[in-house]
This record gives sequence, structure tokens and C-alpha cells, in this order.
Amino acid sequence: MYTAIASLDGYVEDDHGRFDWAEPDEEVHSFVNDLQRPAGTYLYGRRMYETMLYWETAPMDEDQPRFVRDFTEIWQRAEKIVYSRTLESVSSARTRIERNFDPEEVRRLKATVSHDIAVGGADLAGQAIRAGLVDELHLLVVPVVVGGGKRCLPRGWRLHLELLDTRRFGSGAVYLRYRAVAEGQGSSVAHRV
Ligand SMILES: NC(=O)c1ccc[n+]([C@@H]2O[C@H](COP(=O)([O-])OP(=O)(O)OC[C@H]3O[C@@H](n4cnc5c(N)ncnc54)[C@H](OP(=O)(O)O)[C@@H]3O)[C@@H](O)[C@H]2O)c1
Repeated sequence: MYTAIASLDGYVEDDHGRFDWAEPDEEVHSFVNDLQRPAGTYLYGRRMYETMLYWETAPMDEDQPRFVRDFTEIWQRAEKIVYSRTLESVSSARTRIERNFDPEEVRRLKATVSHDIAVGGADLAGQAIRAGLVDELHLLVVPVVVGGGKRCLPRGWRLHLELLDTRRFGSGAVYLRYRAVAEGQGSSVAHRV
């Protein structure tokens, strides 16, 4: 599954590299915790990994809100695979580096584990989508238009989707849960436009 918090115009990061406008409030954060909880393995692009690394050492004292401590636990418990050609080492537990994103290897992993696998970082997720590896998209659309930046979804690829669930939040964010479906018998879920 690919979970992303995106602007209404489909960006996860604006032209200035910022995504503070995507910061979830308690209601959205708690909801995302529940989405991420079943994911036993996270596949990360290096950039997303570097952002998420905060959670490896996030404070767990009683001053921290419960939903924040909850996410810290969820993140620390999961296995992580980081895709990078530049990263020399990782500083989080249960983490290994892969130098190449090999769709066949991910397909094998999907076939062998019983838990969900989450992919994160729009660049890496785009590759997983193009390889037909993403079964579900979980998009949290926040009420902002940022005009440009890093696209949430890859350009030039068509993906047919079935809507599985929706939810609206007090902040004006909307959750859209989609399943990728093949167009016809034997066709791949994603294909070049
Ligand atoms: N909207 C939000 O709520 C939100 C939340 C958190 C973060 N973000 C931001 O969203 C941005 C996502 O950026 P992104 O989509 O560029 O990043 P990404 O997918 O997380 O990472 C891209 C990096 O992954 C590595 N990589 C990609 N494909 C690879 C392959 N086939 N083989 C080996 N390594 C590969 C490369 O690392 P190397 O350069 O090391 O080779 C590449 O530079 C980040 O800036 C993140 O901080 C947004």
C-alpha cells in the first residue's frame, strides 16, 4: 500500500521543498496510525527515510500526546528497507539498505510475508506503482493547493481504481482509499499513457 498526505493539486512537497502544510492534526494522525499499524514492512526511498528517521529517537515521555507515542511505537516495530545508492549506513533498528529497487524481489517479499507492506516516498512509490506492485492507495488530501512541487503520483501512467472507503476530517482533509484494478483479463494494473 502507498499512503500519502497530498495537496488538492496532488503534491507531497511544494516547489520550495516544504510540506509543513501537510502536517496532520491529532484526528488525522490517529487515523494514519491505524492505517500504518498493519504494515510490518516499510519500503522507503532515501528521502522519505531521512524524514521518518525522527521517529527512531522520538521522545516517549508522558508529555508526548498518546497518538504521537503510538506512532513512535508503530514505526520502531516495523521492518524497514531503504532504497538508496548514496546512503552508507542506517541508524535505525530493523533496517537494511538496498542499492536497487528490484520489482521481482518485492513481488517475492509480498508472497512470503503475511502482513501488509507499505511503500513511501513519492519517487519510490511511483516505481512500485509502475511495476504493478501497489494494491491499494491511501490518500489523505489536505485542503490546500500548492501550485507545484513533488507529485504524489507518477506522470505518464494510467491506473484504474476502485473506491473502497472515504472519510472526512474536521480539518477539511479527506481520506480516499482505492484499490488498483486491472482493466481487462490478464492486463497489468498500471500502464503507460
Ligand atoms: N506530504 C507529506 O506528508 C510528507 C511527509 C513526509 C515527507 N515528505 C517529503 O516528500 C518527499 C518525497 O521525496 P521523493 O519522492 O523524492 O523521495 P523518496 O522516494 O523518498 O526518495 C528518493 C530517493 O530514493 C532512492 N531511490 C529511488 N529509486 C531508487 C532505486 N530504483 N534504486 C535505489 N535507490 C532509489 C534515491 O536515493 P539516493 O539519492 O540516496 O540514491 C532517491 O534519491 C521528501 O522530501 C519527503 O521529506 C512529505
